[in-house]
Amino acid sequence: MATSSMPAPTYSLGGRPVGRMGYGAMQLAGPGVFGPPRDRDEALAVLRAAVEAGVNHIDTSDFYGPHVTNHLIREALAPYPDDLVIVTKVGARRGADASWNPAFSPQDLTAAVHDNLRHLGVDALDVVNLRAMFSHHGPAEGSIEAPLTVLAELQRQGLIRHIGLSNITPAQLREGQSICPIVCVQNHYNIVHRGDDALIDQLAAEGVAYVPFFPLGGFSPLQHERLDAVAGRLGVTPMQAALAWLLHRRPNILLIPGTSSLAHLRENLAAASLSLTPQDLAELDAVGHPTAG
Ligand SMILES: NC(=O)c1ccc[n+]([C@@H]2O[C@H](COP(=O)([O-])OP(=O)(O)OC[C@H]3O[C@@H](n4cnc5c(N)ncnc54)[C@H](OP(=O)(O)O)[C@@H]3O)[C@@H](O)[C@H]2O)c1
Repeated sequence: MATSSMPAPTYSLGGRPVGRMGYGAMQLAGPGVFGPPRDRDEALAVLRAAVEAGVNHIDTSDFYGPHVTNHLIREALAPYPDDLVIVTKVGARRGADASWNPAFSPQDLTAAVHDNLRHLGVDALDVVNLRAMFSHHGPAEGSIEAPLTVLAELQRQGLIRHIGLSNITPAQLREGQSICPIVCVQNHYNIVHRGDDALIDQLAAEGVAYVPFFPLGGFSPLQHERLDAVAGRLGVTPMQAALAWLLHRRPNILLIPGTSSLAHLRENLAAASLSLTPQDLAELDAVGHPTAG
């Protein structure tokens, strides 16, 4: 009989151990990640329930809303628990029409760091991801030296504790690592979107956290017959199976599934205690490889 395995419960993020099941706050802003939440009370309740359940890694940005998710996090959770790691990101600015625009100048980046500090109500940001914006369609080549040098200077000033990168290519990771220590990479990845398989393995070997965004498919939630079939056999939901697969994929993967619903939050958190056999893992792995299995 195949042996079941439980995913490791924690991994280091900027030198601090965080639970591998975190929470992404983007879904708390209004439709299109713009404006106030549909249900403000539930948004605050989701944040409090996450932390009460042991979540100590929350992902946010001042450009969600803009400012909305940071204000909600502060209202729901400040004064913050000592073990809570809040990760934010800079590099974009929202237009009045809800558009996402690159904001990479030294002035833009410095203002974004100060906005995050003020809106979260902290003296220093735990982790700041530089979000590359060279293309609207995913990672694209382009030098990150100038903007990352600005963040490294703000880190020297004590406003940022640790720096990560988001929406980047392997070449940009190498360039970034030559400028300052990089503690995490946040890119689009999930059970059916597997472009970063090799990068994840490389980062695992280097001891760098990998934080997939859209772990449940993001704005197009995951839908896959084979995922449904495996989840049904395991007696869990497809979303739980997809999260459990990620936790088993490599120990440096930290999850930040996003939800505005208490019921979905509880469902997602429960996926952290799902143990999978090698056969389960092979079947789930085949979801992302249509020709296999
Ligand atoms: N660095 C970047 O460029 C970047 C880009 C995007 C996101 N992010 C970060 O990554 C986090 C995660 O990404 P995401 O929130 O966009 O996408 P996601 O976690 O893949 O999926 C969120 C979507 O799935 C739904 N959902 C959540 N749990 C569910 C469940 N158990 N059953 C059914 N549906 C469920 C949510 O709707 P409900 O609200 O109805 O549950 C929402 O529509 C974000 O919160 C954000 O912090 C970063």
